[in-house]
Amino acid sequence: MAFRKDFLWGGATAANQCEGAYDVDGRGLANVDVVPHGKDRFPVCLGDLKMLECDADHYYPAHGAIDFYHHYKEDIALFAEMGFKTFRMSLAWTRIFPNGDETEPNEAGLAFYEDVFRECKKYGIEPLVTITHFDCPIHLIKEYGGWRNRKLIDFYKNLATVLFTRYKGLVKYWLTFNEINMILHLPFMGAGLVFEEGENREEAKFIAAHNELVASAWATKIAREIDPDAMIGCMLAAGTYYPYSCRPGDVRAAQLDNQQNYFFVDVQSRGYYPAWALKKFEREGIDVGMTDEDKQILAENTVDFISFSYYSTRCSAGVDNPDVERTQGNAFAGAKNPYLQESQWGWAIDPMGFRITLNDMYDRYQKPLFVVENGLGAKDVVEEDGSINDDYRIDYLRQHIQAMRDAVTEDGVDLMGYTSWGCIDLVSASTGEMSKRYGFIYVDRDDAGNGTLKRSKKKSFDWYKKVIASNGEDLS
Ligand code: BG6
Repeated sequence: MAFRKDFLWGGATAANQCEGAYDVDGRGLANVDVVPHGKDRFPVCLGDLKMLECDADHYYPAHGAIDFYHHYKEDIALFAEMGFKTFRMSLAWTRIFPNGDETEPNEAGLAFYEDVFRECKKYGIEPLVTITHFDCPIHLIKEYGGWRNRKLIDFYKNLATVLFTRYKGLVKYWLTFNEINMILHLPFMGAGLVFEEGENREEAKFIAAHNELVASAWATKIAREIDPDAMIGCMLAAGTYYPYSCRPGDVRAAQLDNQQNYFFVDVQSRGYYPAWALKKFEREGIDVGMTDEDKQILAENTVDFISFSYYSTRCSAGVDNPDVERTQGNAFAGAKNPYLQESQWGWAIDPMGFRITLNDMYDRYQKPLFVVENGLGAKDVVEEDGSINDDYRIDYLRQHIQAMRDAVTEDGVDLMGYTSWGCIDLVSASTGEMSKRYGFIYVDRDDAGNGTLKRSKKKSFDWYKKVIASNGEDLS
């Protein structure tokens, strides 16, 4: 048998991309609620355009999303039908602390998640919970400047304490921050950063990164004190950088890109900053505000496992190779790899790169890995009879699961589980579209928010069910 007997097969979502109900039961406003669909989305996500309120001129897809808030029983029943062993979801911080800096939590928010976890448990589905998935209360951005302010470490500690206490025995697997490296690419999404004119952006991003890393280590410590059975993981937007060619300049560029990408997990897994980062800070005059206590907390509270998303590899070209074609993929611009096909959104498709990435990460950290996102965003067509024949999605997943199997059986990578991204169609993080669909379950909603929200099974639904039932042996 390729995969462990207790391999955690399942699917993944994020609160802001599926819950909707953004203003009910005491929930406060968060960064993700003010990110519109349309041309302003990217500048807002980058922290270039300050939009901390909603207005009538924009459509905000997170407000309604797929209304998981009111459909969770139906959705979890469908996950159970596919045989999910785990369901990855995230919490909306503002359901629990509407402003983020209160001392007492909002009971309605806590009760909602408790109901969701109990519903999962009813079917033997283990919740895998991301504490923050591109999620920061607006109040913390307006009052404190987001994660560039150390005070957020204390607010996050308070959140973590409440969560681990309340959900002890219900939730075993926790991830502290989704794609923590996204701070460097989409700083408003990753850390609630909006840049001021003339601000040293590089310094602001690394200060925010430091504060999140320290908060993550504190959460790990708190979890272990409250619930010794809890398993805490970090989460990285992974994908190895290939050198565009064997020119030394390209190889060096890839090395630098890989170092920067692994920076976060280096700290979360090893407990200290990599040498190159300390040199960079020294050279560029960056002061992240490291205290002796920070150093100790980071060193003593490394993660139990390493989770990551994988959509594609990336390609790096040195400055001596300026004419390469550029491509866009999950906020990571890079050189276009001429050997790879791309998705409808220009993301390179590279199953072998998945095996390479799994090996790179396991070689580097020697801790159990967990693939918590992978999948194909594609436009689906609903046929007259209501069927959705997403063979392209099945092909993509088949090739990637095969590559993952090779990494386990041939290369010995220790892998805990696999949750495919957007197991039910949800709002795209990068574009705000509904039409960029990843799901096994179709949701009738369009890019402007119209539709009945009716759920229906795609062809891939039964295929994935078979994959899980055979523990990854039958990919036909
Ligand atoms: C990851 C995020 O970056 O990729 C998810 O953790 C996101 O939130 C996923 O949805 C796919 O990206 P997109 O832009 O296609 O939704």
